[in-house]
Amino acid sequence: MNKITQLFNIKYPIIQGGMIWNSGYKLASAVSNSGGLGLIGAGSMYPEVLREHIQKCKKATDKPFGVNIPMLYPNLEEIINIVVEEGVKIVFTSAGNPKTWTSFLKEKGITVVHVVSSSLFALKAQEAGVDAIVAEGFEAGGHNGRDETTTLTLIPMVKEKIQIPIIAAGGIATGRGMLATMILGADGVQVGSRFAASIESSAHNNFKETIVRVKEGGTQLTLKELAPVRLVKNKFYQDVQNLYENCPSKEELIQLLGRARAKKGMFEGDLDEGELEIGQIAGLIHEILPVEQIIEQMMTEFDVAAKEKAKFEF
Ligand SMILES: Cc1cc2nc3c(=O)[nH]c(=O)nc-3n(C[C@H](O)[C@H](O)[C@H](O)COP(=O)(O)O)c2cc1C
Repeated sequence: MNKITQLFNIKYPIIQGGMIWNSGYKLASAVSNSGGLGLIGAGSMYPEVLREHIQKCKKATDKPFGVNIPMLYPNLEEIINIVVEEGVKIVFTSAGNPKTWTSFLKEKGITVVHVVSSSLFALKAQEAGVDAIVAEGFEAGGHNGRDETTTLTLIPMVKEKIQIPIIAAGGIATGRGMLATMILGADGVQVGSRFAASIESSAHNNFKETIVRVKEGGTQLTLKELAPVRLVKNKFYQDVQNLYENCPSKEELIQLLGRARAKKGMFEGDLDEGELEIGQIAGLIHEILPVEQIIEQMMTEFDVAAKEKAKFEF
């Protein structure tokens, strides 16, 4: 038992990050059934679709699971009400101010975790009363902080500032990565990219195969003027780079991004015109595997690496 396994009543301190277009009930329940904590990603779901996924998840697992809510969507209140009505016990919030909803959720008996990318925001989340924070480094897939703070530097800096449990995210896909961040001060890990390339991920197969093909250096954080996001360097990414050469206004960037690019890329499998969000660690992901196997591999490697550490001699 450690702080994170105790907080969520799970076997391993591995959380599957909420991921738009990837983490429906199938992925979340598979992670929870394998001893981690699965999160349904509300960010890409209409409220009633989210309700359906929560209900299906309850049927697919008797283990704890949660919902990830990016707080930048207009129908936030409706989403929060559904989560409460459906009796969800764990909520991870991201992309917003933790003060807005934490006390409301806590009053309903929900365990609340907030995702941050700096120690300043970790402190704010702690002050807002969350139960734990996810500290997400610049390597991570999806939307990201502007400061480019890497997981290796972020975790010890957050650890210096806050007392509540820390979940490390960004660049973790193996048991060794997990052990490394826990040695730096994390109590558990949140993994995104590795689970995006799982059998149970709801992403289009074209996207999963792209993750396997992406090599070191194949992603880049871009669109910092809007919401910084790490993307595969595909045609759409190149279109963005070309536009940058003409010093575009924010409006021109918004116009190029248009609507539903992420859905087009990750869910519909349009590898040219779609936005393909994935982390730097994709360079280490070589196979699309079932969730159970991913977690088993991570935990076996974690144990082997922990024993090796005991043998370090200088
Ligand atoms: C395809 C994709 C979609 C994501 N969508 C979300 C999201 O909706 N909400 C959120 O808080 N984080 C989101 N993330 C971030 C993950 O939850 C997680 O923190 C991150 O992937 C961890 O870094 P890693 O990709 O290096 O494992 C997303 C990541 C990916 C790869």
